[in-house]
Amino acid sequence: MERYIVSGGKALFGDVEISGMKNAALPIVVASILTGEKCVIENLPSISDVRKSLDILAAMGAEVNYKGNNSVEIDSKDVKGGISPYDLVSKMRGSTYLIGAELARFGRAKVGWPGGCDFGVRPIDQHIKGFEALGAKVTMDTENGYIYADAPNGLHGNSVYFDVVSVGATINVMIAAVLAKGKTVIDNAAREPHIVDLANFFNTCGAKITGAGTSVIKIQGVEKLHGCNYTIIPDMIEAGTFMAAVAATGGKVNIKNIIPKHMESVSAKLEEMGMKIEEFDDSITIEKVKPLKKIQIKTLPYPGFPTDMHPQLTAVLCTAEGMSTVTEGVWENRFRYVEELRKMGAEIEVEGVSARVNGVPTLRGAEVKAVDLRGGAAMIIAGLAAKGTTEITNIMSIERGYDDIVGKLTALGADIRKIEE
Ligand code: UD1
Repeated sequence: MERYIVSGGKALFGDVEISGMKNAALPIVVASILTGEKCVIENLPSISDVRKSLDILAAMGAEVNYKGNNSVEIDSKDVKGGISPYDLVSKMRGSTYLIGAELARFGRAKVGWPGGCDFGVRPIDQHIKGFEALGAKVTMDTENGYIYADAPNGLHGNSVYFDVVSVGATINVMIAAVLAKGKTVIDNAAREPHIVDLANFFNTCGAKITGAGTSVIKIQGVEKLHGCNYTIIPDMIEAGTFMAAVAATGGKVNIKNIIPKHMESVSAKLEEMGMKIEEFDDSITIEKVKPLKKIQIKTLPYPGFPTDMHPQLTAVLCTAEGMSTVTEGVWENRFRYVEELRKMGAEIEVEGVSARVNGVPTLRGAEVKAVDLRGGAAMIIAGLAAKGTTEITNIMSIERGYDDIVGKLTALGADIRKIEE
């Protein structure tokens, strides 16, 4: 069983390079099959979810050539729909994008039920609403776990209004609409930076998308896309995780290769806690200069405080002075990691979608589980701050989304190692 062993109590100092964004890489890798040509994707994070996506494309007939750890050439000329391997698709959320991509390229899709982190119910009704507005019929084979979509008369642009702000539905409908006949207008779209990144990728391939980054996205369908070279944006959640680690342990770290604008909501909250943050063109320096104070956090769609930074910030607040509250505004059940933090001496009470975190003088090392990707990151942060040794199991959840987290933290002075038995 693989585990991380963390010995706490070391402040972090130095520079860390942030990798490409997981949640931009997954849709862009899948969307590359709409071109039917060669795409070179750069600044890819070296994480298992990206490798799985590329394995899925390879199983569908794409020629996938890695060029080092962070760049890949995908030739999707011979890709076939309806044959993505169920065991890989069912392990990650990003595979929902195969529905939009197969529909766009082949006019029909057959995809296994997607997996991913367990935050309670993860519906796809808004994705389906969008596909149906474009002329597809969607059916579920719940017994065998497959989703089918079919557009025998092709996809046609239309207006789509989302009832909830959904990153996945916005991305999936964009993917389905780029090659549709006519114009699609997505209203109440998500505004996350990865949505802008996907639009930029598509436009580099010859698509006509405007408005990404606002709540109204307009897509004028084109007949064909061509291959391109594209560089993925930096991962704001990875950057935020390192910022949280410095808040928990103390020290001073320069977080490099980021877009500071994407960090605004996270920086604002860390500053409110007492952290000193200096912003540069493509980096941020974060330093702990005094004890941390309690704060209130509520997660919201971008540009609000990201739900994917919630567990990491809760871990930091465990040792801040006073009673903080963390309210989850996106997912119905994202608090499974709290039980693990309690094993380390954290005082946290959860009621509905809110947690009250009573700061304690210090956490203590314990054996804990990474219940999901960001919950696992919270365990690392707590372990780095705790007295004694923390053993973290189920680390494959963490390695789904963090590129060389052990190497990067070690270079900053942390005592963390991976044990493989
Ligand atoms: C993506 C991210 C995930 C992040 C989340 C919110 C990926 C692979 N995952 O997930 O890490 O936590 O965005 O930033 O990019 N909803 C519906 N109907 C739908 C779709 C969503 O009601 O059809 C609801 C969900 O239950 C949730 C909210 O909308 O309450 C947001 O979900 P969404 O933005 O779609 O998250 P994902 O794209 O699955």
